[in-house]
Amino acid sequence: MHRVELRSAQLFERGQRVFPGGVTRTTVVRHPRPIYVERGEGPWLIDVDGNRLLDLNANFTTLIHGHAFKPISAAVAAQLERGTCFANPTEHELALAELICGRIPAAERIRFVNTGTEAVMFALKAARAFTGRSQIAKLEGTYHGGYDWAEISEHTDPSTSRAQPPIALGNYRGAPQSVAAETIVLALNDVARTATALAGTEGKLAAILIDVMPSRCGLIPIEPEYLELLSDYCRRSGTLLISDEVLNLRQDFEGASARFGIKPDLMTMGKIIGGGLPIGAIAGRRDVMEIFAQRDSHGWLLPQGGTFSANPLSMVAGLASMQALDRAAFAKLEALGDAVREALNAVIAKRNVDMSVYGRASLFRIQPSRRIPRTYREAFAAEGPSSPMPRLCEALLRHGVNLPRHGTGVLSTPMTDAEVRHLSDAFTAALADIGL
Ligand SMILES: Cc1ncc(COP(=O)(O)O)c(C=O)c1O
Repeated sequence: MHRVELRSAQLFERGQRVFPGGVTRTTVVRHPRPIYVERGEGPWLIDVDGNRLLDLNANFTTLIHGHAFKPISAAVAAQLERGTCFANPTEHELALAELICGRIPAAERIRFVNTGTEAVMFALKAARAFTGRSQIAKLEGTYHGGYDWAEISEHTDPSTSRAQPPIALGNYRGAPQSVAAETIVLALNDVARTATALAGTEGKLAAILIDVMPSRCGLIPIEPEYLELLSDYCRRSGTLLISDEVLNLRQDFEGASARFGIKPDLMTMGKIIGGGLPIGAIAGRRDVMEIFAQRDSHGWLLPQGGTFSANPLSMVAGLASMQALDRAAFAKLEALGDAVREALNAVIAKRNVDMSVYGRASLFRIQPSRRIPRTYREAFAAEGPSSPMPRLCEALLRHGVNLPRHGTGVLSTPMTDAEVRHLSDAFTAALADIGL
């Protein structure tokens, strides 16, 4: 099947005259050009060339109700008439905060910001201000947005570093060495290496930043024994455990940490709580969150502002999104996820290809090996020029499916059995296209 990309090509040419690299965010780069979107309809994207694509990206997992979800559009339209932002609080922020704090066990208090990056940045700063310590620890290969500390070792090369323990590496040219020197990098699910890395750091670490099922790390669930090691270290040393749920909050009605049986000291949120408008949030233990409200003779212990933080458009959109996410909606997403994983694994078995599909709730990942990975390095060991994943994603596009290039897909509430069938038919056809 051939895809028309004429109009996208024209727009990309225009983009190259105004944007470095032709685009305004690295994450939309695609060879030979990005796909320009005309509109979204529920779980479908319609691009500027009229191609209809099942959207398994959902703006990087944000749109849990798909595109143009009516209750969100109506709430935003009504608020537009009343003003878009004020240098004052509004009742809307209370409504969203009350819903989240009433539902998520670890969220005793909350503050809103504009992005997940900002949420992670302020969570780390809060941990520092609360503990009076500056160092942090994080997992190798995990993505937490663009704050320098949170970005450390996000992209270590699994093929060259397999034999060594993880090391702290800056994420961009010129990244300060001092940031790497204040960050300890841990190997997900490797209890022995992690215990060694943490030995002797007691009293120095403000926080351990985790994601219980990090997407860019291969969508690998953190194992109970590993979680116990980190929780135990935090309890003993007065280090705060921060669960980054910017992406994984969508796993469950009460969020991901509740599903994994932990109550972190702090957590971060974003994406689904904004209903498709920009948002982030830091939440957690009441005594820790109080650091945002404390001051001494010099001023706030942790200043936090933000011109657009808690803007009423994001608040009303987020409230509509979260109100529609009742327990029945999560049960539907869970069942959809199981149906997709089962359908794609059935295709793999029938065609006898070296792949596997796994994941939880509304998240799934296609892995180019029969073995489901347990670690970041295993998850990306199969990457490289011989990996079939880029060719598979290209072929899926030709068959009407938009799957992010690492093979991690996300489902949304308007999807039905028809979309599951569309995906599994497209997967069969795409595998045949690339000779698998
Ligand atoms: C786990 C996690 N943390 C933080 C972020 C950053 O969020 P944002 O893109 O809103 O800055 C993301 C974004 O994908 C994420 O997946």
